[in-house]
Amino acid sequence: MNSESPMTATSPAGGAVIKRAPEIARATAADEDDIVRALLAASRIAYADLPGAETGGVERLIADMASRKPHDYRKLLSDGSSAIFIARVDGDVAGYIQPIYRPDRTGQLVAWHVLPEYQGHKVGSHLMRQGLEFLGDIDIYSITTVGTVAEAMHRHFGFEEVLSVPPDHDWRKTPPPMALAGLTAPQVPLILERAQRRLILEQMRAAADGSAAAGS
Ligand SMILES: CC(C)(COP(=O)(O)OP(=O)(O)OC[C@H]1O[C@@H](n2cnc3c(N)ncnc32)[C@H](O)[C@@H]1OP(=O)(O)O)[C@@H](O)C(=O)NCCC(=O)NCCS
Repeated sequence: MNSESPMTATSPAGGAVIKRAPEIARATAADEDDIVRALLAASRIAYADLPGAETGGVERLIADMASRKPHDYRKLLSDGSSAIFIARVDGDVAGYIQPIYRPDRTGQLVAWHVLPEYQGHKVGSHLMRQGLEFLGDIDIYSITTVGTVAEAMHRHFGFEEVLSVPPDHDWRKTPPPMALAGLTAPQVPLILERAQRRLILEQMRAAADGSAAAGS
């Protein structure tokens, strides 16, 4: 973590220019389309280099998700069974995070996606902070694809591999929808232990305070 300001006037090629920290809000049913759009666009980029992508695996996965996910999110957003938080930049939904409680009362991040044009501007960091704050003082799990930028970002935030999960466990295998699409995407189960969560949140709060002071 560093204390760089979330505000920036520059942008990666083709990306958005973000001048203010994103606004984080609880998603409502009205956000369903934007959430699915972020999921599909972020997934398309994130999986572009996986084995199987060269034969159309990513497009098959995206088509499959496009047929299932709107229904899934409509249900989640209408029955309130899971909290989803969105980040808005100048009114547009740039990304979202979905933190949940597991039956054993530990936490898990089951989705964390930012539209490609907003990536690299700390939108993901703001969402991560919201997810960690929401879940509270508990261990928090996540699973992501081995070798992706998302894995490196989780580790940047203090997540570590769950070594007690054996190599042949289902959690480490390519998830069924990806395998069906023809992609090879081994997974890495990760944990942010509660003490580490406290530390990283302190750093995030200090960085946000520093940014606010610099902007005032
Ligand atoms: C993962 C994702 C949500 C992150 O969103 P983002 O807006 O691009 O992320 P940010 O710009 O906020 O960067 C997040 C942090 O990672 C750091 N980071 C950036 N690149 C990194 C890298 N290659 N390795 C490690 N850390 C990195 C950033 O510095 C930032 O930390 P900081 O706030 O302490 O400086 C986004 O890249 C995405 O949607 N990816 C595709 C979907 C995906 O794989 N989601 C995760 C599923 S588990």
